[in-house]
Amino acid sequence: AKTLVIAIDGPAAAGKGTLAKRLAIHYRLHYLDTGLLYRAVGRKAQAAGLDLDNPEEMTPIARDLNFHDIDEPSLRGREAGELASRVAAHSGVRQALNAFQREFAAQPGGALLDGRDIGTVICPDADVKIFVTASAEVRARRRTDELNAKGRTVVYERILEEVRQRDDRDSNRAVSPLKAADDAHLLDTSELSIDGVFRKACSLIDAQI
Ligand code: C5P
Repeated sequence: AKTLVIAIDGPAAAGKGTLAKRLAIHYRLHYLDTGLLYRAVGRKAQAAGLDLDNPEEMTPIARDLNFHDIDEPSLRGREAGELASRVAAHSGVRQALNAFQREFAAQPGGALLDGRDIGTVICPDADVKIFVTASAEVRARRRTDELNAKGRTVVYERILEEVRQRDDRDSNRAVSPLKAADDAHLLDTSELSIDGVFRKACSLIDAQI
């Protein structure tokens, strides 16, 4: 049978990660959260005391990244997300990470990748592309509730500001800006539950494979 490749893109906190993990299990696909790669570069650069806004310092860090020791728990969180979004603006960094992502997508058994440029740059020939969105307010509300539930006291307005800043940086950068591919299905999660998002995505995928 032909191997299936699914591309999931969208802004921060739209529910991409949750959806992507469930879909990968459901369709039995290898799963890659590509944000982790950029987060790992950001963290490594910060730990080395380098200038995250300098492409000449960041590209070698991305080239030398060892994909086997990406430690997911330490890369979660808002700070690593901020660092990621700064290093992700450099074309040298993106290029250094592209080959790994493309190889991952091409492996036997099929793959599902989530990120910002999967449908546009990494896997332009993906079988199904889904662009997950939600209003900035809804995303900030969800993130605020999630953090408060973990016992971290955060203020909605502050989180909304962070969500907007990240959108702005990701959408306006020169290389691979956050943008839906022309052939992506838009999936607005603002009014849907997690299960509702999953069901909708499955029906989009099933109709296309
Ligand atoms: O998805 P996540 O929040 O982990 O991504 C962190 C940051 O990494 C994003 O805000 C974006 O700037 C960058 N990123 C990217 N391209 C990807 C995945 C993430 O530019 N494919």
